Amino acid sequence: MEKINVNGIQLAYERRGKGTPLVLLHGFPLDHHLWDEVLPLLEDKFDVILPDLRGFGGSRAVDSFYTMEDYAADVAGLLDHLDIQKAAIVGHSMGGYVALAFARLYPDRVSGLGLVSSQALADNEERKQGRYKSAAEVADHGIGSVVETMAPKFTSDQRLQTFARESMERQQPAAYIGALKAMAERVDSTPLLSSFHFPVVLIHGDADALIPIDRAREIKAALPHAHLAEIPGAGHIPMMESKEKTAKALKHLA
Ligand code: MLT
Repeated sequence: MEKINVNGIQLAYERRGKGTPLVLLHGFPLDHHLWDEVLPLLEDKFDVILPDLRGFGGSRAVDSFYTMEDYAADVAGLLDHLDIQKAAIVGHSMGGYVALAFARLYPDRVSGLGLVSSQALADNEERKQGRYKSAAEVADHGIGSVVETMAPKFTSDQRLQTFARESMERQQPAAYIGALKAMAERVDSTPLLSSFHFPVVLIHGDADALIPIDRAREIKAALPHAHLAEIPGAGHIPMMESKEKTAKALKHLA
């Protein structure tokens, strides 16, 4: 992986393919390998940039206090480094929250936006408290209980569930804590949606046990020009569970 220094942290990324610049942002608590299986289907149309968000994978964070906007600023710094002015920004789940923050901060740098298994809403009070409880649990006892709770909810496919679990187990506790707090403090992006005049793609499995497909349908209702790909039988990681359908939908951003 390539590594750069940006915003006081070390950011690692992969870059593959040729075509429209496309940033793929992984969700919580994973890294860019989430996109490995779909990547070969995208490389003919896109210049694909795959960062590890700060703290995750090969990227390092200096502390655990940052926001979705900080993750987004890291992506902007990476695009600056690569001399790319505009890109399609696609995020999976928490990566979608980062993509929305990026669109809020840098609308002129977005050629298209994709949300995979994500949502525009902020956390309600109960969910927010749950995040802080999980962050304290990770600080005191490590990542084990978050992994145990989340891994079975990613997918019913045993091979892919093992992949998700191993990926979660590779991540640093500090990355969990930072991301849990950043997710708890994120703002509601619903009011932002009407300002999107670029192509928008929504990809969501109808068996997603972490973020229900209704969240994608609500965005589609607010944004009729969005392309919604509902993936029958897929859970939270359609880019692995149904890679052809995911790649086909993402090509609307080429
Ligand atoms: C993710 O997959 O990134 C998380 O489940 C998102 C969330 O917890 O809101």
